[in-house]
Amino acid sequence: MSSLPQILRDQLSAGPLPFARVMELALYHPEHGYYGAGPRRIGRKGDFFTSVSVGPLFGKLLAMQAIQEWQALGEPEDFTIIEQGAHDGQLAEDVLSALEGRPLRYLIVEPNPRYREAQAKRLGDRAQWIESLTALQSGPKHAFFLCNELPDAFPVHRLRWNGQRWEELYVTEAFQFVPGDLSCAELAEEAKQLPQDLAPGHTLEINLAMLAWIRDLARAAFRGAIFIADYGLDAEEFFADPRASGTIRRYKQHQMDDRVLEDLGECDLTTHINFTRLIEEASRHDLVQRDYDLQGRLLGRLAMPWLKSLEGQPLDAATMRQFNSLTHPAFMGRSFRCLILEKSAR
Ligand SMILES: C[S@@+](CC[C@H](N)C(=O)[O-])C[C@H]1O[C@@H](n2cnc3c(N)ncnc32)[C@H](O)[C@@H]1O
Repeated sequence: MSSLPQILRDQLSAGPLPFARVMELALYHPEHGYYGAGPRRIGRKGDFFTSVSVGPLFGKLLAMQAIQEWQALGEPEDFTIIEQGAHDGQLAEDVLSALEGRPLRYLIVEPNPRYREAQAKRLGDRAQWIESLTALQSGPKHAFFLCNELPDAFPVHRLRWNGQRWEELYVTEAFQFVPGDLSCAELAEEAKQLPQDLAPGHTLEINLAMLAWIRDLARAAFRGAIFIADYGLDAEEFFADPRASGTIRRYKQHQMDDRVLEDLGECDLTTHINFTRLIEEASRHDLVQRDYDLQGRLLGRLAMPWLKSLEGQPLDAATMRQFNSLTHPAFMGRSFRCLILEKSAR
C-alpha cells in the first residue's frame, strides 16, 4: 500500500498544488491522513492537549450552559445538544454525564465512519449521528451547538505579500513552497480585504473552509446558541510582525514547529483561526455575537453560578487543577478564545 508522501508525490508530479489541498490529504486522507484512519490519542500520551483532555470539567461547564439554553427556550422537548469534531466521544461523554437526568438529546455531526464507530462504542444509544450539517436543515428546532478545536483543523490556503500583491503558496513535488496566482475567485475576494502595507514576505492563512462551515451552520433549522472554542486571534493580530510567517504549525508528541511539509500524515497540522473574520461572516448570515472573550474569562463567567452554589464547600484537588488549566492565562485561559453566537430559527 502506498504511503501518504508517495500519494502526494504522484499528485504533485502533475504540477504544484495549493497548500490547502496538501493539508486536506495530510489530515483527512481516509487511510493515511493524520485524522483519517480513526481517532488518535489526545492528551499526555498523544501529540497535544485540548480542553477536553484536561478532564471532565470542560464538559460539565458546557452541560450547565446547555441546560440554561434549554430553560431559556422554555424546555422544548426536541432540544438537542449538537457537537461537531467529537473525536473519540470524550466530550460527549463528559457532557452527558453532567446532565444529571435532564432529557436533552445529543447529536454528533461526524462524516468519518471510523470515528462514528469509535464514538458509538463509547456512547451507545445515548447519542445519535448525522454525516453533515446539511441534515440540520430539517431539524431539530431547538439546539445548543458546540465544538472545541474544530475550525483550527480545517485545511487552509497560505498567502504571501510580495510587496505589490498577495500570492498563494503552492507545494511542489520536492515538498517546497512556490508562489503563484490565487487559485480561486473566493480567495481573491478574501485577499481584497487584506492590508497592502505589510513588509514583503508577510505570510498568513485564509480558512475558506471555516467560512463555508459557518454559512452551513447558519442554514440549520434550529433556534438557540452556538459555542465555539479554539485558539485564534483578532484580524489585526495576524498582521503584526510577530505573526509575519503565519500561524500554521505541526504537532507531534507535544513538540511544535513550522516544518509543515515534513512527516505529512504523521503530525497534526493546525492554524489559529481569525475570530474577527468568523464573527463577521456569522453576522452576515444572521448569527449574532452574544459573547466573545479569552477562554479563561468566558469559562469563568459560565462557571460562576456553579461556583456560587458550592460556597463553603472546597473544590476537590482534581477539579481545582482542571479549572486552573482551562482558565489560567499561563495555560489555556489566554491562548484559547470562546465565542457564543445566538441563532434564530430558519
Ligand atoms: C484538534 S481535534 C479536536 C478534538 C476534540 N474536539 C477535542 O477538543 O479534544 C479536531 C477534530 O475535528 C475533526 N474534524 C475535522 N473536520 C471535521 C468535520 N468537517 N466534521 C466533523 N469533525 C471534523 C477531526 O477529525 C478531529 O477529531
